[in-house]
Amino acid sequence: MKVEKFYEDLHTLHVGTVDNRCWYVPRCGEGVESQMLLSGNDWKFGYFPSVEAVPERFWENTEALIDMEVPSCWQMKGFDQKQYTNVRYPFPYDPPYVPDENPSGAYVKDFELDGEAAKKRQFLYFEGVDSCFYVWVNGEFVGYSQVSHSPSEFEITDKTHEGTNRLAVLVLKWCDGSYLEDQDKLRFSGIFRDVELVLRPQEFVRDFTVQTPVDLENNRAEVTVRFDSVEGNPAIRCELCDAEGNAAGSMYSSGEPVSIPVEAPVLWNAEQPYLYTLKISTGDELIEQKVGIRTIAVKDGMILINGHQVKFRGVNRHDSDPFTGAAVTRESVIRDMRMMKESNVNAIRTSHYPNAPYFPALCDEYGFYVIAEADQECHGVCNLFGADYCDDYGKIAQDARFGEAILDRQKRNVIRDKNCASVIFWSLGNESGFGENFEEAGRWVKAYDPTRLVHYEGSIWESRGYHNDTSMLDVMSQMYASTEWVKNYCEDPRMKKPMIQCEFVHAMGNGPGDIHDYIELLDNYDKFCGGFVWEWCDHATYEGKAADGRDMFHYGGDAGEFPHDGNFCMDGLVYPDRRPHTGLLEWKNEIRPVKAALKDMATGTVELRNMQDFADLADTVEVHYEVKRDGALLDSGVIGTVCCAAHERAEIVLPKLACFAGERTYVKLTYIQKADRALTQKGHELGFDQFALFEEAEKALTLDDCGTVTLEETETAFVISSDRIRYEFGKKAAAFTAMNRDGRALVEAPLAWSTWRAPTDNDRNIKQKWEEAGYDRPWTKVYGCTAESDGQTVKISCEFSIASVYRQPFIRATAVWEVNADGEVKLILNGKRDAAFPFMPRFGLRLTLPEAENQVEYFGYGPTESYSDKHHSCWIDRFAATVDELHEDYVRPQENGSHWHCDEVKVGGLKAEGSKPLSFNASYYTAEELTRKAHNYELEKSGHVIWHLDYGMSGVGSNSCGPELLKQYRVDEEEIRWEVKLG
Ligand code: GAL
Ligand code: MG
Repeated sequence: MKVEKFYEDLHTLHVGTVDNRCWYVPRCGEGVESQMLLSGNDWKFGYFPSVEAVPERFWENTEALIDMEVPSCWQMKGFDQKQYTNVRYPFPYDPPYVPDENPSGAYVKDFELDGEAAKKRQFLYFEGVDSCFYVWVNGEFVGYSQVSHSPSEFEITDKTHEGTNRLAVLVLKWCDGSYLEDQDKLRFSGIFRDVELVLRPQEFVRDFTVQTPVDLENNRAEVTVRFDSVEGNPAIRCELCDAEGNAAGSMYSSGEPVSIPVEAPVLWNAEQPYLYTLKISTGDELIEQKVGIRTIAVKDGMILINGHQVKFRGVNRHDSDPFTGAAVTRESVIRDMRMMKESNVNAIRTSHYPNAPYFPALCDEYGFYVIAEADQECHGVCNLFGADYCDDYGKIAQDARFGEAILDRQKRNVIRDKNCASVIFWSLGNESGFGENFEEAGRWVKAYDPTRLVHYEGSIWESRGYHNDTSMLDVMSQMYASTEWVKNYCEDPRMKKPMIQCEFVHAMGNGPGDIHDYIELLDNYDKFCGGFVWEWCDHATYEGKAADGRDMFHYGGDAGEFPHDGNFCMDGLVYPDRRPHTGLLEWKNEIRPVKAALKDMATGTVELRNMQDFADLADTVEVHYEVKRDGALLDSGVIGTVCCAAHERAEIVLPKLACFAGERTYVKLTYIQKADRALTQKGHELGFDQFALFEEAEKALTLDDCGTVTLEETETAFVISSDRIRYEFGKKAAAFTAMNRDGRALVEAPLAWSTWRAPTDNDRNIKQKWEEAGYDRPWTKVYGCTAESDGQTVKISCEFSIASVYRQPFIRATAVWEVNADGEVKLILNGKRDAAFPFMPRFGLRLTLPEAENQVEYFGYGPTESYSDKHHSCWIDRFAATVDELHEDYVRPQENGSHWHCDEVKVGGLKAEGSKPLSFNASYYTAEELTRKAHNYELEKSGHVIWHLDYGMSGVGSNSCGPELLKQYRVDEEEIRWEVKLG
């Protein structure tokens, strides 16, 4: 069909839309919502490869259309192409033009107006349509709009009649606005949010601004209301009620601003989200606006809410669902929020666009601080041919043609959500470079709403010699800055602005491993005001079950699209279907509301630090404790009420602690939620601390004399036998090649020195160096191997090295193995690592056990996977699990399920312990299989239990997008000494 090409016109952004307004649902006199939800299963739909392919007046022939659910994304309904791309635009860069083959969706919906409704003024309210759309009602053109994640509203009063009316919407996949919507996500199209028909009287208030200046000193506040857009000249009554419904003040207005004084106001914060209700009545219409009274200020590099220093422990959240794409339901949003609350999260960045209009209202209600981001990203400018990444970053930001569109996006963001107490920051967008367009946008935001902070990370990029003016930005924002950078910023007195990391601890795959290191800084530097994990959920599409019943989730490339960015969208704290990743558990405990330190063991004194910003521990947290030795409970109890104001410290005493001191003895404090809250229940575990009640020391490992052993030598092996065992030691392996005890094979393949782990997503950068080093295909060379026996034990000594196929050895070592008649083995390894090589993924032994040996018991960090830098959601205890349970099923297979700092571990009938704690992994999958496969449902079991006993396992970090793995978590020491006993 022929339409006017508004979609390639940077100066025609909206046609026929009414003024932007704050979001609310108007009610009629009796309080009934006066809007009709048009969403539903009864829409008609046709998909066409281009606008031209759409029949003229397509709404006249609905026979040719199919039934369609709205809201939905057409790619999730079997049309068009699924595509995941990050930075690269999915179309040629040629603004304002878009491809001629511009997939189009034609929607038709009939709705009824009864006599009453037909007399009212009627407005169509589209909450979100990707990317642009034309609207007709009863065959008449109504208008055009864009900005996918912001609402558009059209008045249709003069185009409707009593009875059945026909709404037709033509949605185009791309428009000039698509250049500003290059967010890293699966790209979806269609009417993906609700559509409403809003019925209003002749005269009404369309838009208003509520502000809540607070006089902290005198304990009073004002609720001011400014009427920004009013139809006609209605008499306005504003009434404020407290949360219990009691009147707290009222005022009349005929359009001029009003101010309702509130004495002794109950202030809003995320921990105590107290809301008043403002009722704006204009004759036949009532608007109810929830009001959180609170102030925001910046002082000495700190962010204050109601005068209190606040820290943002946040996450970035996209609208994403494996079944419905970007069309998410209110229930799923609330499920996300519940999980966030359960995980101590207090802030959300709506990356990188406004969420559904009810979203910030829910944040007001449940208590989250929000960075409300405009629908704005043009990262793709960094990928143009011949361009220098940074230099081209300002290409759109500095292009005057885009000024209007960028400003439009800010206005739509701010005006919709401006009355929400939860919104603390306006964010100008994400990764769009910097230039006049953003300076102007920032100035508009700051002037329009001086009560909030303006955020934009992109301002750190200066390009093409442009000198950025960042005076309208209130915070210094970074993404993925290293701990070192954070420290330097915080300690530099010239740096005045509060600093946040709008993205950090990239939660892709097995990770993040560095949460603890960042949170230590967040907890202790005033200027480091907050961090937002990238990101909340993995993005994927659910593609049904594999032949064997395993779920299939797909990511970039799986739909055959080009370009794509593989599994870079699988980087959340939760799986696509919201099962928590171990990273979420880690984040949760690192941001627990209380942190403890063992001050004095003799007196049992423990210091508690209240990490909350407002609440007293006495009201929120109950402290439980238990003392365990080697996994057995010695003592437990509940500490009485601990009075401790926000940010303060208090001491508690566990008087009997000293008498429990001893090896493998630990006290664990668990923090339990004290009262029910809107989303979480009393009794919920908020986090824990654990302390050892002994000094860790190296253990002496000895072998008992338990009978006679004999030693024989063949060309290739030493054979050790007793009445219980027959072990073969391979002279070329520097390890055992067969181990039989009591007539059974303990291992089904030779023991092997192992230097490889299936690269995690966070290993994506170091992986190539590891492969170059040959860690994935190590060659063992034995220079000498001797054995001796004293009749009770056999002792074998080997000199050997491990090398890559075409390089020098990376480890040279001596191994001394002792074996007794029961088949117990003790290994002492002394090695030297060549420092020219990169740090190692792991170093240890691989044992191939019979598949039936699948019961695992260990004393170390569990119950979930643990690494040297990722064990803060784990505690030390005696744990039992099956090999299946140890597997953490990442959608893209990778190293998983290891346990760090284990005193001992038993797999089936074999037990191992180290003179120092070791790391282990037991899995049905080999590291090679986990390396090879792209999806979890493709994994094939090896037919054995693959048991890795590791001298060292490198940490996991967050280098998939963040800084390199911190030095202290790398296996990179030059001297290796390892003592381990197996039996
Ligand atoms: C950031 C970006 C996010 C996401 C992330 C990588 O640079 O802002 O949208 O792409 O990197 O996962
Ligand atoms: Mg990006």
